[in-house]
Formats: sequence, C-alpha cells, structure tokens
Amino acid sequence: MSFEKYYEAFRAYSDIYSDEYRRRIETLEPLLMKHMPSRGKVLDLACGAGGFSFLLEDLGFQVIGLDSSEAMLERARKFAADKGSKVEFVKGNAKELPFENNSFDYVLFIEGLVHFEPRELNQVFKEVARVLKPGGRFILQFTDLRELLPVLINGTVVGAEYWISRVLTDEEEKTVLIEFQSEKESFRVRFNVWGKTAVEMLAKLYFGQIHSENINEHTYFQVYVPKK
Ligand SMILES: C[S@@+](CC[C@H](N)C(=O)[O-])C[C@H]1O[C@@H](n2cnc3c(N)ncnc32)[C@H](O)[C@@H]1O
Repeated sequence: MSFEKYYEAFRAYSDIYSDEYRRRIETLEPLLMKHMPSRGKVLDLACGAGGFSFLLEDLGFQVIGLDSSEAMLERARKFAADKGSKVEFVKGNAKELPFENNSFDYVLFIEGLVHFEPRELNQVFKEVARVLKPGGRFILQFTDLRELLPVLINGTVVGAEYWISRVLTDEEEKTVLIEFQSEKESFRVRFNVWGKTAVEMLAKLYFGQIHSENINEHTYFQVYVPKK
C-alpha cells in the first residue's frame, strides 16, 4: 500500500509529458497567470514531478520545488535536465520547511492535502505563512474528497487502466482506503479526507482568503495572503 505505486500508476502526476498532466497544466495556467500578477520567488510545495515548477519558470518566476519523496524528486530532476531547467529541486518536509522567514512571494500547493492529517496540515499551513513575505500569496488547489466520496463508492473508472474496486472509510471519515484495480494488478492507498469547509477553517488561522473558485465539480482553486 503506497503512494509511490499510486503516482507511478497515474501519469497525471508522474509524467509531465502525458496528456493527463498537460490537461492539469492547461487548466491551471490561466488562473496562475491571473493570481500571480508580479514575477518573484516561488516555492512549489510538494512539487512532485515538477510540471508546475517548469510552467512558472517558463513564465519568468524564480522557482524552488520541494518534495519529500526521493522517487518524485528523481523524476523532477530528470525532466529538468531534459528541459535545461534551472529549477532547484530540494528534498524536505512541508511540515518543517528548510527556508528562512519571509523568503517567498508565492507558495504553490497543488493536490497535496491528501498526504496530511489535520494536525500535520496545521503545521504545513503555519510553515507556509512563515516562509511567505508579508503580502505574498498562498495558491492552493485541492479536491474535496468529502464531496467526492459518494461518487467514488459507485466504482469510478480512473485513468486509462484502473478502476476503483473498493472504498473503505474509517468511522469518522477522516481517511479513506481506496483499492485501484487493473487487468494486471491491484493496490491500495490511504488518503486523508479533506472537505472545503475544514480546509478553510484551518487556513483561517494563518491566512485571509482573497479568492476561491471551482475548477471542476469537486476541485477548488484558492488564493490566500498570510496574516502578518
Ligand atoms: C498529488 S502529488 C502532487 C504533486 C504536484 N504538486 C502536482 O500537482 O503534480 C503530492 C506530492 O506530495 C508529496 N508529499 C507528501 N508528503 C509530503 C511532505 N510531508 N512534504 C513534502 N512533500 C510531500 C508527495 O511525494 C507527492 O509528490
């Protein structure tokens, strides 16, 4: 049961040249351009394979990508070498960022919430607020798994190869164990379940929200500024 397997199976996260990854970039690019009006220093938090880091570098930002997974960083560094990118990819933990206070104009956090329990996400948000400059922006994109759960339980097909064969939640629906099945194999991953209300309540401790919109039925794009 591992996220490594999940990211390997879904090219939407692991292959920046795949159609699935490209679609994610195409959807977010206009929103990022609109809500990142001046160039500056960006932390791509939980950067994964680095597709959004490269996009922002191409748009003129100075980008550092941070991720805790060596396998993901290896992918990102390979893509960087391939593209001649100058993005620096750093291994680190979002709960304890290896950066000085007030270091970044923007922190981007895309589809990372599922990795964190409430107490951990509290630490992440606190760290994001610390490393952002006053007036800097926290750009957050997440899928509301709480809204999505009833849909998943009905056996959704995901990606080209896999379908969901099992969905098991704990009693309080704080986490969900999802079993992915293909013709060849099956694997399970446990996700933390975050709904929009809970995310916003936690964010409110450290940020003021300046924008929120749906980018599809269950996915939100939000912009925050730190309270400092
Ligand atoms: C769904 S992927 C998203 C990656 C990228 N933001 C994207 O949209 O393609 C979530 C990423 O969070 C990373 N991650 C999980 N826990 C982390 C932590 N504690 N600190 C930093 N990164 C973490 C994973 O390794 C993974 O690359």
